Amino acid sequence: MPPFPHGRSVLARRLTAAVAASDPLPTPTMVVDLEAFDTNADDLARRAAGKPLRLATKSVRVPALIERALAHAGFSGVLAFTLREALWLHEQGISDDLVVAYPTVDQPALTRLVESPAAAAAITLMVDDLAHLDCVDSVRRSLAVPVRVAIDIDAGLRIGGQHVGPKRSPLYDAAAVSSLARRVVDRRGFRLVGAMTYEGQVAGLPDMVPTQRAKSLVVRGLKQASQSQLEERRQQVADSLRDVVQLEFWNAGGSGSVESTAADPVVTEVAAGSGLLVPTLFDHYRSFEPRPAAFFALPVVRRPGPGIATVHGGGLVASGPAGRDRLPSPYLPEGLHLTALEGAGEVQTPLTGPGAARLAVGDLVWFRHAKSGEVFEHANDVHLLEGDAFVDRVPTYRGHGLAF
Ligand SMILES: Cc1ncc(COP(=O)(O)O)c(C=O)c1O
Repeated sequence: MPPFPHGRSVLARRLTAAVAASDPLPTPTMVVDLEAFDTNADDLARRAAGKPLRLATKSVRVPALIERALAHAGFSGVLAFTLREALWLHEQGISDDLVVAYPTVDQPALTRLVESPAAAAAITLMVDDLAHLDCVDSVRRSLAVPVRVAIDIDAGLRIGGQHVGPKRSPLYDAAAVSSLARRVVDRRGFRLVGAMTYEGQVAGLPDMVPTQRAKSLVVRGLKQASQSQLEERRQQVADSLRDVVQLEFWNAGGSGSVESTAADPVVTEVAAGSGLLVPTLFDHYRSFEPRPAAFFALPVVRRPGPGIATVHGGGLVASGPAGRDRLPSPYLPEGLHLTALEGAGEVQTPLTGPGAARLAVGDLVWFRHAKSGEVFEHANDVHLLEGDAFVDRVPTYRGHGLAF
């Protein structure tokens, strides 16, 4: 892999040069560093060790960047977050292998799916309940177009009577999965083609946080227990499914677990998205080196007092359990902090710290978002940084007028 120019000071110089050379920019100014993005894509492929990576598009939400990732060796197919998104990506010719990662009850979108043989051949729906099949049947007038489905299987850890992991599919053991699989296979108008086990408690939990050493140790233990329990259970489920159906794919994992997920012989492909842009929630993983690739700039609009600079807007807060780790982080210039009282505000965000004193009205402050794709819901386009210049400006989903 080519060496990656690390360090905030290098990025600061590049951003400053790119801003100086461009027309005045609307704020928030979204930027993706293509050099970091491409290095991250190569690194994800290296970690997957030959297994294909299915792109989790919710973690990108910029069509041009989705296409760029899919053009990288090692990436193949899309893991979409809604059926409407999958239909759009398919219509645009961006992919003809799309798995919708979460069950859908969106009747208008299902109607479009069952009325388009081409879309139905390209898109796979996720199910974990017969009610999901009923939803499909409720919109169709004929069974002429078979609908591809995959079964979502809970990938959580069961320990001491507790369930650790995302609360998603009710299907846990081989008997429950096979029972639903048989019902799908026996039902006219459906083709069971895949399975998914997303181990969020491994893929989505930082395990090397410098300020939380004790917690990180516990998380690492939990991840190890999860992986070995899951590997055993995946094998059992796969063995019992083999009597029912020949699957095309078994999807699992995420950016934080690429190598351990890929190592499981049952898994045929690994999902990844956040590892391309590396938001702050992905800063502290033992398994990979974080290279932040997405930034947004806000202008300083006031100096309420010495040592405080206030930027316009700023409340680009990430989803999940509300907490400080969901807030955007001031990144450049260095030495800036949010205040406890206002945090990242709707209309303004005061910043303190040693860097604040040097800021003047009109200066830009660069932030990183806590999560990967959500940040792009706040702007219509993204500037692409290569070397010291913005080489292109591309629309986000929002810029395309799309809200998935
Ligand atoms: C089903 C599924 N697979 C994979 C992922 C991992 O995506 P990422 O690589 O962006 O963390 C997620 C994230 O929430 C998910 O819901």
